Amino acid sequence: MSSVFSEAIDSFLAPIRDLLDDSGVSEVMINGPKEIFVEKGGLVYKVENQFPHEEALIAAMRAIAQSVGRVFDDDNPRLDARLPNGSRVHAVLPPMSKNGTTVAIRKFSEEKLTINDLIKFGSLSKEAARFLDICIYLGKNIIVSGGTGSGKTTMLNVLGSRIPKTQRLIIIEDAAELQVHAEHVVNFETRKADPTKGITEVTIRDLVISSMRLRPDRIIVGEVRGEEALDLIQVMNTGHDGSMGTVHANNPADACTRLETLCLMGDIKIPPDAIRKMVGSAMQVIVQCSRYHDGGRRTSHISEIIGIDRDGNYISKDIFKWVQTGKDPESGKYLGEMIPCNYVPSFFEDIVVNKLPFPKSSFIGPEWFNKMKKEAA
Ligand SMILES: Nc1ncnc2c1ncn2[C@@H]1O[C@H](COP(=O)(O)OP(=O)(O)OP(=O)(O)O)[C@@H](O)[C@H]1O
Ligand SMILES: [Mg+2]
Repeated sequence: MSSVFSEAIDSFLAPIRDLLDDSGVSEVMINGPKEIFVEKGGLVYKVENQFPHEEALIAAMRAIAQSVGRVFDDDNPRLDARLPNGSRVHAVLPPMSKNGTTVAIRKFSEEKLTINDLIKFGSLSKEAARFLDICIYLGKNIIVSGGTGSGKTTMLNVLGSRIPKTQRLIIIEDAAELQVHAEHVVNFETRKADPTKGITEVTIRDLVISSMRLRPDRIIVGEVRGEEALDLIQVMNTGHDGSMGTVHANNPADACTRLETLCLMGDIKIPPDAIRKMVGSAMQVIVQCSRYHDGGRRTSHISEIIGIDRDGNYISKDIFKWVQTGKDPESGKYLGEMIPCNYVPSFFEDIVVNKLPFPKSSFIGPEWFNKMKKEAA
């Protein structure tokens, strides 16, 4: 990217420069020129920063649009773009946005969180992290599920970086965000159509189909949100074990339902019952990310999907889950821990056969939890 654009963007973004420079700020939300909020440490605060007027805010967004070869105007009132430093920007113009031009900037962090960071933050227990490592080693298909901003991409990045070094990964994203640390990685990014320049669209789906012909060991789809779900499910069911992706859902069983709905969106007509069976057998491990009211982002569940029952419901078994045990009176932060749920995964034999150090006893919940459950029953 040319420095001219960076400089232009820099001067237009002067009103929020301090927020962009503050490494503690993870997201900047602009609801019209005079109302700006930031997310810090997982919580959202209003700040004093303001743009002088609507035109200044629009000019800033136009400079960003221009730097990535896009247009932000009445004919193109929604913008998806990146700042030169990689931060992700989405903006919507009035009259669609009633507050004035509305923008969210997801700050790009140079230092990606690692599995040890997630353990340190209490987002994941040591045992659960070891278990996920084992799932990756064994080539289990893993879907990271969660709500908006719950930490899905971060988790996928962490999991992708644990894939054995000898394997060839193909990563497919709408906008390149993942920075998987591995030796043999191929990155693909989609392309939006621009009829004025004769540029055709290249979708996630197209890239999944290409990936299949590029000798992948594992395919990672950054965010599954369209008909590519069907291709990914087929990838997972046809021997490309250990593929991964994220999906927007509130719990592990919902993640399957969401994928099923996405599969049905496409023009390939497969009966819904057949799709459900395909999803049920493709899904193996679901890692559920959640953002809690205290601002903490935690892995709320690690679950196994073991197929569908007679009524057609997905059978989801929690292997680990985060349990709240209290609340810190001073900080208001939730206290709790991630515990095993007394469920031994169906692939335990694989763990034994491969001599992986994870004894059956590691799946047994702590005594206090079992006692609590008995009392509640
Ligand atoms: N376990 C965690 N602890 C603390 N911060 C986290 C954790 N996971 C993610 N974050 C931070 O939360 C923010 C959102 O994370 P991320 O982009 O991974 O979420 P997402 O679910 O992919 O969001 P989106 O739905 O917008 O794609 C980032 O700033 C990231 O650094
Ligand atoms: Mg994401």
